[in-house]
Amino acid sequence: MDKLHKVLNNKNIPQLKQRFFLVDSQNYGKSLSFKDIFDNQNQSVLEIGCGRGELISGMSEANPQTNYLGVELSLKRIASILRNLDINQNSNVRIINSKVDINFLSLIPDFSLQKVIILHPDPWPKKKHHKNRLINQTFLEMLSNKLTGSGQVLISTDDHNYAQVIMECFAANDQYKSQYEHGFTRAPFWPELPTHFEVKMIKKGFYPYYMKYLVFNH
Ligand SMILES: C[S@@+](CC[C@H](N)C(=O)[O-])C[C@H]1O[C@@H](n2cnc3c(N)ncnc32)[C@H](O)[C@@H]1O
Repeated sequence: MDKLHKVLNNKNIPQLKQRFFLVDSQNYGKSLSFKDIFDNQNQSVLEIGCGRGELISGMSEANPQTNYLGVELSLKRIASILRNLDINQNSNVRIINSKVDINFLSLIPDFSLQKVIILHPDPWPKKKHHKNRLINQTFLEMLSNKLTGSGQVLISTDDHNYAQVIMECFAANDQYKSQYEHGFTRAPFWPELPTHFEVKMIKKGFYPYYMKYLVFNH
């Protein structure tokens, strides 16, 4: 048994749920086709780093005709996500335990994502760790090809420096256009579905920057 299933079994996540929601990206060879994963042609949304799954569970229930793929690196958090999901109410969700990077993106067919959501990506505040940040020029360049024409990228962060870097990276790529005059808003995207980190950081007095970009890739 692999590490993930060991953790999930220890945390009493039912086998049926594990089998229903979890996708092993290794089984998909070179292409993580949404048509194969969801067995339909519906529009697809990717959430990167879905944490405890508050957003993906709420959004998928509200939009049953949209596919939601959540990718999360931490085994422990995969258990929390599965606890937040219900096979009947969230039948349009699948979860992958993986690190998203350009290798992962290369598995996603071009022009297949309607939306990419990244809420509170790890900020790696120390300068020597900035290289670990998810969002950089190379990542955005590759991501733009994965989005459908007029696809969107939604990002939030409570880290001032990372917010500036993210805005600069998008501004340097003419395939994206910010939806906000000054590059961000302070109004939450989904006030009805606050995520764990959003609540935690706001309580500490760190108000997130919310950034939204439209892609022009055709
Ligand atoms: C600060 S937490 C935010 C979680 C959630 N989005 C929220 O707002 O509460 C960052 C999450 O991203 C996950 N993560 C970090 N780097 C990742 C990567 N490259 N690919 C997938 N998940 C990642 C972490 O394990 C963690 O759960």
